[in-house]
Amino acid sequence: MKVIGISGSARKDGNTALIIRAVFEELEAEGIRTELVQLAGKPMDGCRACYGCKGKGACLFKDDFFNDCFARMVEADGIILGSPVYSADVSALMKAFLERAGVVVATNPGLLRRKVGASVAAVRRGGGLTAVDTMNHFLLNKEVLVVGSTYWNMVYGRDAGEVLLDEEGMANMRNLGRNMAWTLKRLR
Ligand SMILES: Cc1cc2nc3c(=O)[nH]c(=O)nc-3n(C[C@H](O)[C@H](O)[C@H](O)COP(=O)(O)O)c2cc1C
Repeated sequence: MKVIGISGSARKDGNTALIIRAVFEELEAEGIRTELVQLAGKPMDGCRACYGCKGKGACLFKDDFFNDCFARMVEADGIILGSPVYSADVSALMKAFLERAGVVVATNPGLLRRKVGASVAAVRRGGGLTAVDTMNHFLLNKEVLVVGSTYWNMVYGRDAGEVLLDEEGMANMRNLGRNMAWTLKRLR
């Protein structure tokens, strides 16, 4: 079994990557493989609304990182969507990915059906819940079974590494990993 984590941060190995890795630690402890995909520095355009993906299972525009990232998500048993909070919501990178993925799955139904998923956000102060909701809306709309934890899945921090000081937030991430592992093992 494998879980993919997609970080929408523009900062490679920043707080979003750290909180996804905290979830990964618990999954790996249960023998579940993990892969972190970081969108930082990768080209990622939004959807061009051509609907050419219908029946193709992929986006027709192959000149950026979208199809590579999307294919890895389709292969995985579990999905963690992670974003920093930018302007009180997800980053533009994550939004562009979700726009494209949303239309490809809508025109090719079932690609993510009954995978296990969760959304996590790194936030300095405001907008964490909105970002988590944005990502969960995608998962729920695409038949992904969303797993929860003991609090909303956001961890506080500004500079890279600061999230590690948010003990409650990090404990929530680790518990999320345990819940994902529990769910995956019973469903797969
Ligand atoms: C363009 C931009 C917009 C941001 N907007 C917000 C915001 O609306 N609310 C907030 O609490 N933090 C905001 N932040 C701070 C980040 O959410 C915070 O630093 C986060 O930990 C970054 O995660 P990362 O290291 O994975 O990029 C913003 C940061 C940037 C670069």
